[in-house]
Amino acid sequence: MRRRPTYLTTEQAAAVYDRIGRWQDTQAFYESRAVEDLVRSGDFEQARSVVEVGCGTGALAEQLLSRQLPEDATYLGLDVSSHMVSLARDRVRPWTDRARIVSVDGRSAWPIEDHSCDRVVATYVLDLLSPEAIATFYAEAARVLRTDGVVAMTSLAPADRGAARLLSAAWMRLFSVDPRLTGGCRPIVLVDHLPAGWHPVHRATFRAGGILSSVLIASRS
Ligand SMILES: C[S@@+](CC[C@H](N)C(=O)[O-])C[C@H]1O[C@@H](n2cnc3c(N)ncnc32)[C@H](O)[C@@H]1O
Repeated sequence: MRRRPTYLTTEQAAAVYDRIGRWQDTQAFYESRAVEDLVRSGDFEQARSVVEVGCGTGALAEQLLSRQLPEDATYLGLDVSSHMVSLARDRVRPWTDRARIVSVDGRSAWPIEDHSCDRVVATYVLDLLSPEAIATFYAEAARVLRTDGVVAMTSLAPADRGAARLLSAAWMRLFSVDPRLTGGCRPIVLVDHLPAGWHPVHRATFRAGGILSSVLIASRS
């Protein structure tokens, strides 16, 4: 009988990333092409207020604040791991007048006013959330985004051929034994989790180091 997948609780995710967080940036070898595509396609030069869920070490925050965002645009990073929060705070120190990193519990509403931002970003975060938590993520995104706002995401993606398919299957087996073995992440098809009312405005797939990643930018307008 097929076992129902289990997912990390937010407390387990926080504990995992408190422990392994400092190595997160070593994943850039397979993540960077997808993240670069998200940055290129997300039109951040026009953004006024960005919220990043699962901001990790603050690497993307630093890039957006130093290169893409207008000088008066604000950035808010949220994370459940206190270690990640502390690494990200160090990273955004040069922009303390307009960048904040806030520790969240992963269950409560995001600490943001309704319809107050125009980009919600999550790189390699939805692939560690349960389907129910992904639905809550979109409900919160719909609440905080202005009408012309978008959600911009990357995730691990399942591969259907070649060596990447074997790697993807092995990853899924490890995840089913204990999600902590894969940092809580598993390959997902991002677009399959889009709730009614959202539609894709940009999609791309990248293969790097034998691992497949997808990019999805979605809007409700
Ligand atoms: C795989 S890491 C990705 C970090 C970063 N976005 C990146 O691409 O390097 C996942 C991050 O999401 C955080 N996280 C997990 N569940 C979360 C939740 N429900 N809300 C906010 N952050 C969460 C983890 O603590 C971790 O920092």
